[in-house]
Amino acid sequence: MKIINIKAERNYKVEIGVTFSESIKQISASYNKVLLLAPAVILKQFKIKETKNLFILQTPNGENQKSINFLSQIWSKAALVGLKRSDAIIGFGGGATTDVAGFAAATWLRGINWYAIPTSLAGMVDAGVGGKTGINSPAGKNLIGSFYSPSKVLIDPTLLQTLPARDISAGMAEVIKCGFISDYKILNLAQEDVLDYQELIARAVKVKADVVSKDFKESKLREILNYGHTLGHAIEKDSKYKLRHGEAVSIGMVFAAELSKELAGLSSDAVLLHRELLKNFNLPISFSRGRWKALSSLLLQDKKVKQSKIRFIGISRIGKPVWLEDVSLSTLSKVYERIAK
Ligand SMILES: NC(=O)c1ccc[n+]([C@@H]2O[C@H](COP(=O)([O-])OP(=O)(O)OC[C@H]3O[C@@H](n4cnc5c(N)ncnc54)[C@H](O)[C@@H]3O)[C@@H](O)[C@H]2O)c1
Repeated sequence: MKIINIKAERNYKVEIGVTFSESIKQISASYNKVLLLAPAVILKQFKIKETKNLFILQTPNGENQKSINFLSQIWSKAALVGLKRSDAIIGFGGGATTDVAGFAAATWLRGINWYAIPTSLAGMVDAGVGGKTGINSPAGKNLIGSFYSPSKVLIDPTLLQTLPARDISAGMAEVIKCGFISDYKILNLAQEDVLDYQELIARAVKVKADVVSKDFKESKLREILNYGHTLGHAIEKDSKYKLRHGEAVSIGMVFAAELSKELAGLSSDAVLLHRELLKNFNLPISFSRGRWKALSSLLLQDKKVKQSKIRFIGISRIGKPVWLEDVSLSTLSKVYERIAK
């Protein structure tokens, strides 16, 4: 088992290599009442049953659970079972489940303990770690939420055995991102014939943990975790969320690498490595030429745009992130040509 410490508004541990059923048992034994949230498919797949003090609320699947309507159902269930301030919530599922579970915990009785037991790779290396919780609003994704750290994140890599290949690849995009911004060993491990998920997850979590521990509320350093995300978010939105987050980030990373070559001296070999590694996981690495106009107007709405100047996270070499400030639209449009199809 690997244990990684995170310093946030409270300190907590990420334990990698646990057995999920044991973790649920241990949490149940530590509280008077526990409310576990999970989608039907996960409850069935992993045979989770209610016990004397473990109450289950089945969530809708995917983004549908990150809604005010479902959050209100969680509050009603919490009231029904009599969940007190000294009780706890467990989010058992992908990133959408841990996001809503964390936000429910942040808001019920002004904050109760919660545990993330992520079941998807994206959840294990990204959503479950870092304390961002929340739901979507009709105005956009993740607009409502709170920084509210879990008491623990418990990762059982064997849960990935049932995760569809497309979701494994989408999660690998975030793992590979951690390799490019901080830990080149991840990039070596990602090229092995048989992947050591426990090690890959531990390394990716360590990268995120170190950044989040220094900058919990995203004042600046935490932005490096957004490598590939600036264009990625625009692509995700433009695809009307048909592309997985990780797939859009994959294209965004190739773009960020090309931009880094243009503005920060990143080598052509390093750019090529982005393409090769991501392609090995069947991740997309290019996007439609005809969508540039729509993408550029979405880029101007990004939270990293200050006074119409677009800021990107780049790397000057592997493991060395840089802030590319005031990037002009004409540079972006020129670099976009290199990933356009
Ligand atoms: N809080 C954060 O910092 C943060 C960071 C990144 C992403 N997110 C959020 O995470 C979500 C994306 O995460 P995701 O890709 O895990 O989405 P998800 O929770 O929708 O899960 C994707 C699909 O995989 C299924 N699934 C999950 N684990 C499975 C398993 N072991 N076996 C079989 N099926 C399984 C789910 O039921 C779902 O259908 C988004 O809502 C995103 O906004 C949050």
